[in-house]
Amino acid sequence: MKMRPHVGIIGAGPAGLLLSHLLASEGIDSVVLESRSRAEVEATIRAGVLEHGTVDLLRDMGLGERMQREGAVHHGIELRFDGEGHRIPLTELTNGRSIMIYPQHEVLKDLIAARLEQGGRILFNASDVRLADVASSQPGIHFVHEEQQVELQCDFIAGCDGFHGVSRAAIPAAVQTVSSRTYPFGWLGILMQAPPSAEELIYAYSERGFALVSTRSPELQRMYLQCDPQDEIANWSDEMILEELQARLATTDHWQLRVGPIIQKSILAMRSFVIEPMQYGRLFLAGDAAHIVPPTGAKGLNLAVADVRHLARALALFYSNQQTELLEVYTQTCLRRVWRAEHFSWWMTSMLHRFPDDDAFGQRMQRSQLDYTVRSPVAAASLAENYVGLPFDW
Ligand code: FAD
Ligand code: PHB
Repeated sequence: MKMRPHVGIIGAGPAGLLLSHLLASEGIDSVVLESRSRAEVEATIRAGVLEHGTVDLLRDMGLGERMQREGAVHHGIELRFDGEGHRIPLTELTNGRSIMIYPQHEVLKDLIAARLEQGGRILFNASDVRLADVASSQPGIHFVHEEQQVELQCDFIAGCDGFHGVSRAAIPAAVQTVSSRTYPFGWLGILMQAPPSAEELIYAYSERGFALVSTRSPELQRMYLQCDPQDEIANWSDEMILEELQARLATTDHWQLRVGPIIQKSILAMRSFVIEPMQYGRLFLAGDAAHIVPPTGAKGLNLAVADVRHLARALALFYSNQQTELLEVYTQTCLRRVWRAEHFSWWMTSMLHRFPDDDAFGQRMQRSQLDYTVRSPVAAASLAENYVGLPFDW
């Protein structure tokens, strides 16, 4: 079987799906290939925080109706250390900007439903996905779908297949520069059936390591604990998790964590990673396929959104005027924001985690940075500006 859309998109994550919508709104035809089933994609628990600009974009595209109804707008976060909480008033410090708590898999459900309703093509359970001739003007994607061998010929390929996808490898090693860092800790993430313990997210630094209290809905809470990245989830009983959360979040005024059954738990590794360039010939990488940040800054999904916004604009200019100038500077345009997010995520991670080999000096540096961040309005404003997200055309 043969298909011939303008753009072949590999991966139905936030990057690939939003790109298909942005292109459709410019009259550009695309096909999205996804290796997993629709049910799997819609059930994977990942991000929770949407930047101000991400929320505006979804709303402007007519994709924000359920988000606006079910999501929660937050105007601040808490940094907690030495048994005390300190509020960072995000909205006050950023000229009225805020964040939205709305889970990534709910965003994906909305994007998939809307795209299919518009007659868009998303092929789930695609296997054996291979890229061909990416340096030519007629690149192709070969894959198997419903037991048929399919050849997709297109003008451009968007590699939106996440960190473990196949697209990145189509950029020859000789032209790639990879910058990366792995951290000596991971996060143990849980979902707990309980009411919220606080109105805003809590990022806690303690002697025992980092803890984060986030939320999903009035009935379901999301929490994370810094842990050994090699640890097995089977080593953590529900009682141990609760005890550790309570110990790391304890305050001098006896704040109480509201608890309930833990219905999901897993351990994830933490890394920073950037590939440069993000493009080669007619292949353009977007989102986690090109860069990874540790989740402490809540930036991954939002960066994916910013990438595809640039890519869609560049492709729109190409199809309307045959101009390639925005395509040529795609990497450069994306990387300014990518590296800002890399730095912010690394900075938040470094300030809030216990490093296994840290000495007294390192710990005093962390305390001093925390103290400065909560006491100086200028330092707090810098955190807030990055957290709610810089404007897309920053
Ligand atoms: P992905 O979401 O990884 O999507 C890629 C898709 O491609 C997948 O569906 C995959 O199945 C598919 N695929 C892979 N290989 C192939 C192939 N060969 N062929 C076809 N399809 C393929 N970000 C935030 O902004 N805020 C947060 O609060 C936040 N919290 C996070 C918490 C956790 C625990 C984790 C793990 C991540 C968090 N992130 C957060 C990061 C965010 O989830 C990712 O950055 C985001 O999913 C990236 O989107 P993407 O579309 O680039 O990639
Ligand atoms: C989440 O709710 O999953 C979440 C929130 C903030 C982060 C990371 C993850 O920094």
